[in-house]
Amino acid sequence: MAADRHTYRITGGVPLHGTVEASGAKNAVTKELVATLLTGEPCVLHGVPRILEVDLVLGMLTELGTQVSWLGEHTVRVHTPEVTSTSLSSMYSGVNRIPILMMGPLLHRRGETVVPLPGGCTIGKRPIDFHLRGLAQMGADIVDRPGSVKVSADRLTGAHVHLPFPSVGATENLLLAAVLAKGTTVISNAAVEPEIVDLVLMLQKMGALITIDTDRTLTVSGVDELRGVEHHTVADRIEIASFAAAAVATDGRIEVRGARQDHLITFLNVLRHVGGEFNETEHGLEFFRARPLTATDVETGVHPGFMTDWQQPMTVLLTQATGTSVVHETIYEDRFGYAQQLSDSMGAGIELTTRCLGAAACRWHNRDYQHTAKITGPTPLKAADLVIPDLRAGFGYVLAALVADGTSTISGTRYLERGYEEPVAKLTAVGANITTQPA
Ligand code: EPU
Repeated sequence: MAADRHTYRITGGVPLHGTVEASGAKNAVTKELVATLLTGEPCVLHGVPRILEVDLVLGMLTELGTQVSWLGEHTVRVHTPEVTSTSLSSMYSGVNRIPILMMGPLLHRRGETVVPLPGGCTIGKRPIDFHLRGLAQMGADIVDRPGSVKVSADRLTGAHVHLPFPSVGATENLLLAAVLAKGTTVISNAAVEPEIVDLVLMLQKMGALITIDTDRTLTVSGVDELRGVEHHTVADRIEIASFAAAAVATDGRIEVRGARQDHLITFLNVLRHVGGEFNETEHGLEFFRARPLTATDVETGVHPGFMTDWQQPMTVLLTQATGTSVVHETIYEDRFGYAQQLSDSMGAGIELTTRCLGAAACRWHNRDYQHTAKITGPTPLKAADLVIPDLRAGFGYVLAALVADGTSTISGTRYLERGYEEPVAKLTAVGANITTQPA
């Protein structure tokens, strides 16, 4: 992955006050860009965040024959009259999890594809067995190659695919394959995150027939053709929760325009348990501290549970709460790697354990993964030099630096900027003492 553009210097201890605009969700828009490959007609997406991950996906699409033009700061027109290549160049090997989602669209357009195996953040093993098994059930012929898979199919056909776990990526992959398949596809135990629902809304506007049942079942009746679409991407509930945690952790008040309560229900409950509060405003939600912070227990889970991507800012917030909190990570086996620097360099009271200390034993029970954190607070955090290990940990470190006494430097900012749009400008707008220096 590319080098950092700059490092951040953050002087903490300043309560953050003001308004920020929520960006479009990285984890919706990148899939929606892939969905545009399903039609030869032009598509226009609004609310597209200007982040490195979007640049990467647009680069991939361009290699496949997509014409890309920006119509405004956050509006992009993508048009793939013909798919001119069935594979991506090696520069896209291992960079993120998007190429594997192109399998369905490329099979429909060209009957075969070679896609690089995914990369992404180092937060667990992240296999793609559900994706491949589902596509095989739909009639795809899959051949493993070193670092890639070759997939071919005359025409994908509907199947009943039961996911062993409600995987976001596998659900999206199968949706993108099923919309133009022959017959009906049923995906049971599917993920139903708001970003997936947003993809479904876009596909429905394109002409797809998809139903979402209350029991995590998606039923897709394949159609012969999809048309162009104009779609506004859903706001990023990870970014929104990050700024909410920053408001509460610094004892400030931040309005996030575009924040939607219905996408944050579980987060808002936990925030309130800790001592945070929110008000609905004309344009979104504002977040603030309502009382002294107290410890609480959190367990990450699939939607509508507490997102694994909310875990890092919440963990940092809990270092400022009185008492012992437990954060049980049940989605990824290795998503607490970042905690070590918080404890060793900043003085946070975080202890990791391989035990499941949540309400129920999770998939990582009795396996040697440190997936539960015991956080004892409040601890004053000391300024430190931090190196970001992955995207979501990145905002956790920024938040820790905003709370800490003194000036911290943060490198590895390329990870953060993959997923957060203009974090420095947005934090500056709410009064953070943050500057950048060339890396
Ligand atoms: N899993 C399998 N086999 C599979 C697929 C998934 O075992 O074939 C397991 C994973 O190893 C993991 C669990 O299922 O333990 C859930 O993984 P999921 O497939 O839901 O995650 P993903 O699609 O790879 C997306 C987001 C992540 C986010 C998760 C969970 C994108 C590009 N990534 O990953 O976002 O944490 O869903 O909501 O949408 C991020 O934005 O920083 C990020 C990591």
